[in-house]
Amino acid sequence: MLSDEIVERFETWLAEAKADKSLAEPTAMCLSTADRNGHPSSRIVLLKGFDARGFVFYSNGESRKATELMENTHAALCFYWMSKGRQVRVEGLVVPVSKEECDIYFASRHRESQIGAWASQQSRTMPDRQVLEDAIAHYEEKFAGLSVPRPPHWIGWRVVPDRVEFWQEGDFRLHDRDLYVCDGDGWTVVKLYP
Ligand SMILES: Cc1cc2nc3c(=O)[nH]c(=O)nc-3n(C[C@H](O)[C@H](O)[C@H](O)COP(=O)(O)O)c2cc1C
Repeated sequence: MLSDEIVERFETWLAEAKADKSLAEPTAMCLSTADRNGHPSSRIVLLKGFDARGFVFYSNGESRKATELMENTHAALCFYWMSKGRQVRVEGLVVPVSKEECDIYFASRHRESQIGAWASQQSRTMPDRQVLEDAIAHYEEKFAGLSVPRPPHWIGWRVVPDRVEFWQEGDFRLHDRDLYVCDGDGWTVVKLYP
């Protein structure tokens, strides 16, 4: 579990980023995963939940990221809020989000996004765009007049951190870096050279 200090600090920085209308996607974070050989890959996903347990995102359970997370449960996240001159780095292990939590979040999505989750075979090779359009039409017809259930392959992960770094830009590259590390018993914080 994250300490109260880390939770409060992240919540404050996220709230300040959300309040800044120059930031189009304040919950966007770079998610890095690695395969069983340790080869890394990165992509942007959106933060959809945060509390002392960790950082939650949702995706396709058959995507490249999902395959890598099955092979290797280590993940890293990186937020960058440019106008605030702030970066937060997170490292830890992923655990699956409960089915109930996935259902609640899926139900809150736009219907078009829900249909898209059924139609897209994320990360797989697509013969041409029409195949996707046809799949969308198929699921629109299938779920016409009904609420769209969560596809079993549409799931969430929680990154349970053991390292969190708060980085605040400083003048002349003399940035301020606070690194929180969990040693098993609790969290310690150190300052890092910029
Ligand atoms: C701003 C932004 C937000 C995104 N949010 C998500 C997301 O929350 N979940 C997701 O699966 N993909 C999201 N994507 C798409 C991913 O970056 C990526 O293309 C996709 O998940 C496939 O990644 P993979 O092939 O490595 O599994 C987002 C992309 C951008 C640019």
